[in-house]
Amino acid sequence: MNTLIVFAHPEPKSFNGALRDAATEALGRGGHAVRVADLYAQGFCSEAGRGDFASAKDPDYLAVMREQAHAWKTNGFAPDITRAIEDIRWAELVIVQCPMWWFGPPAIVKGWMDRVFVPGFTYGRGKWFESGGLAGKRALLSMTADGTNSSYAWRGRYGDLENLLWPVLLSLRFVGFDVMKPHFSPEVSKSDDQRKALIADYVRRLDALGGETPMFFHAEGDYDENDTLKPEVKARTVAQRD
Ligand SMILES: Cc1cc2nc3c(=O)[nH]c(=O)nc-3n(C[C@H](O)[C@H](O)[C@H](O)COP(=O)(O)O)c2cc1C
Repeated sequence: MNTLIVFAHPEPKSFNGALRDAATEALGRGGHAVRVADLYAQGFCSEAGRGDFASAKDPDYLAVMREQAHAWKTNGFAPDITRAIEDIRWAELVIVQCPMWWFGPPAIVKGWMDRVFVPGFTYGRGKWFESGGLAGKRALLSMTADGTNSSYAWRGRYGDLENLLWPVLLSLRFVGFDVMKPHFSPEVSKSDDQRKALIADYVRRLDALGGETPMFFHAEGDYDENDTLKPEVKARTVAQRD
């Protein structure tokens, strides 16, 4: 399986870097091809803007979605976006490796989504969720944190992890990915032993990932014309309630 690791940490020698290396090694051992997109090292821009496009459909008013759709049709993206799109097209599994910064991923990950998950490529004209442009690919968010596991639970100090990460997980599903349960490495700064154990846990998870069922998201047929779950459908995701 072609695996893209989107690495979003400014320090290559960080613990996130160690997880990136452990994944590269484990996946390689399993016969998978691995590419690393190191967003900070590439100088990936995290802000959408005019610079994303080689030409302007409307030079007087920047409607980002419209310019993205135009650039998709005309092959007119900035080089960092073109490269990121090419990496995703190549990949069957996309791993986003990043620290938890203020209860979400660093801004560069959001910028990667803002600038790369463009209409035409990932969604639009009836393409979204299970029929999104990236359908058939898997995505795994691997995130490190200093907080404890129990603090990221429903009754924990910070609340449930998947609920916190819902905007990212939902976006990954919106564009079509089969989204795997996030991989969470807590208490990273506690000790060397903790870090060793976390690396071992992650490698075990990756070795078994092929047999895992992706997270549940409601399918198109579960919704009515108001974008609401049909009365007979029970809400089953972490962010929807009956
Ligand atoms: C800007 C910033 C924000 C952070 N926010 C959180 C947070 O919301 N929750 C948490 O548990 N840890 C938080 N941390 C701690 C980092 O998640 C932790 O240091 C990192 O995951 C360790 O991995 P590293 O050694 O690869 O950097 C934050 C750290 C920084 C620098």
